[in-house]
Amino acid sequence: MDIEALETIVGASGVITDTDVLAGALADWTGRYIGHSQAMVTPQNTAQVAAVVNWCQQNGVALVPQGGNTGMVGGSVPMNGELVLSTRRMTAVTVDPDAGVAVAQAGTTLAAVQDAATEAGWHYGVDLGARDTATIGGTVATNAGGLQVLRYGDTRHQLLGVEAVTGAGETVGDLRGLHKDNTGYHLPSLLAGSEGTLAVVTQVCLRLHPKPVDTAVALIGFSHVADAVERVPQLRRSLSDLQSLELILQAGIDLVCDTYGQPQPFREPGAAVLVVEVAGPQGVLDRFGAAIDTLGLSSHQIVVGEDRSTQQRLWRYREAHTEAIATLGVPIKLDVTIPQRHMASFLEHIPGVVGASDPDATTWLFGHAGDGNIHVNITGADPTGSGLDGAVLEYVAELGGSISAEHGIGRAKANYLRLNRSQAELDVGRRLKDAFDPNGILNPGVIFLTC
Ligand code: FAD
Ligand code: MLT
Ligand code: ZN
Repeated sequence: MDIEALETIVGASGVITDTDVLAGALADWTGRYIGHSQAMVTPQNTAQVAAVVNWCQQNGVALVPQGGNTGMVGGSVPMNGELVLSTRRMTAVTVDPDAGVAVAQAGTTLAAVQDAATEAGWHYGVDLGARDTATIGGTVATNAGGLQVLRYGDTRHQLLGVEAVTGAGETVGDLRGLHKDNTGYHLPSLLAGSEGTLAVVTQVCLRLHPKPVDTAVALIGFSHVADAVERVPQLRRSLSDLQSLELILQAGIDLVCDTYGQPQPFREPGAAVLVVEVAGPQGVLDRFGAAIDTLGLSSHQIVVGEDRSTQQRLWRYREAHTEAIATLGVPIKLDVTIPQRHMASFLEHIPGVVGASDPDATTWLFGHAGDGNIHVNITGADPTGSGLDGAVLEYVAELGGSISAEHGIGRAKANYLRLNRSQAELDVGRRLKDAFDPNGILNPGVIFLTC
């Protein structure tokens, strides 16, 4: 790789070849994918990104766009020696308080976008545990979901505009922030969830929402998992301020408590807990209390956090799952959507499906119950070739669910895309990829298997 040519484009300090610094960009968050590369380029603006992509095109060099490297499906790692293009030096964000839109460079962290929106009196409707590291470009590329999808939609729904550099080196898109624009194909929709295979996202224009005045968080405990699942549609109907509705099971709560020395949330542990966040105009807690009264839940089943520090403590039981599970070794991370009518039976049967493939494996279940998204994490099994992924994902597809609710396909699920997509859809997808990236230099092997 011609390092000097890259230095001419982004400056000497913009090309990283030091193996210690590079190491952090070569492995994914889970530790399942460990790649190799000679260099990482860190452009500062769209023109530099375009120049790097054009140089790659002319020199037949493949590249992997990388944001915060918190992805869960191995899409941000150079498994075949590709050049890494990191957006870490593209971190500008501005908010137009009158229009209620934010414009951010791709490498801005999700937390920085949230903070900028809050300071301007608005709310950004995407939140997830990796908020301090995940970038806005990465969340667009994966169409990230997270904790507030049932209220605001996933990242795709926040996009008013995107600017990006295609694999052919052309800069496309706009940041005008128009709420209505029906001028043919919608570029933001095409790029949301494209996982760096069509274009490098350089800037985005985001829709903001009214900032809630009050927030309350509650844990609701249940003796049976099916009871918790049964309450989900009821809570969605009754809580007008509902912002998050998450499910955790007792085994996961025990793991979090043991790993981080937290006390159990309830004196008498049950089988499952729903984490509920309500947010809205003044009077949130009163409206929440009134709705809960009508649902006939007994008070010893509920813990409510009114102040911010208690709310954060309650959220920790849910948010610490990812890191606590990672302390047990490299997990197999599956991320599925199950139709509501099959949810209780799925949660009951899935440990058996896993156990039939590998009796030594342990199954951890948690997720965004409000939108049918369950994270199936498996530890104690070989993440590279146990066949467990296939057994679980085939079962999910049989139930009419999605094999990837929010993490994307990446490398980890590329082999299973056919379970949810017809051959005709896969063929159209490949032709779309060819149109954006005619030389196949962007993220080869991600979404589509290279054959
Ligand atoms: P990366 O990991 O760097 O990249 C992810 C993919 O996007 C790769 O394919 C990469 O090539 C591509 N990409 C990155 N930047 C660009 C760009 N500028 N242009 C084009 N392609 C690009 N995800 C959820 O959906 N919901 C959750 O609730 C959630 N919670 C999480 C909690 C924890 C603790 C962790 C560690 C992860 C969680 N994730 C969650 C997964 C992850 O944070 C998201 O997938 C996030 O969107 C990735 O952003 P990133 O900047 O880290 O992207
Ligand atoms: C979550 O909801 O916590 C994330 O998607 C991360 C994970 O699946 O571990
Ligand atoms: Zn999630």
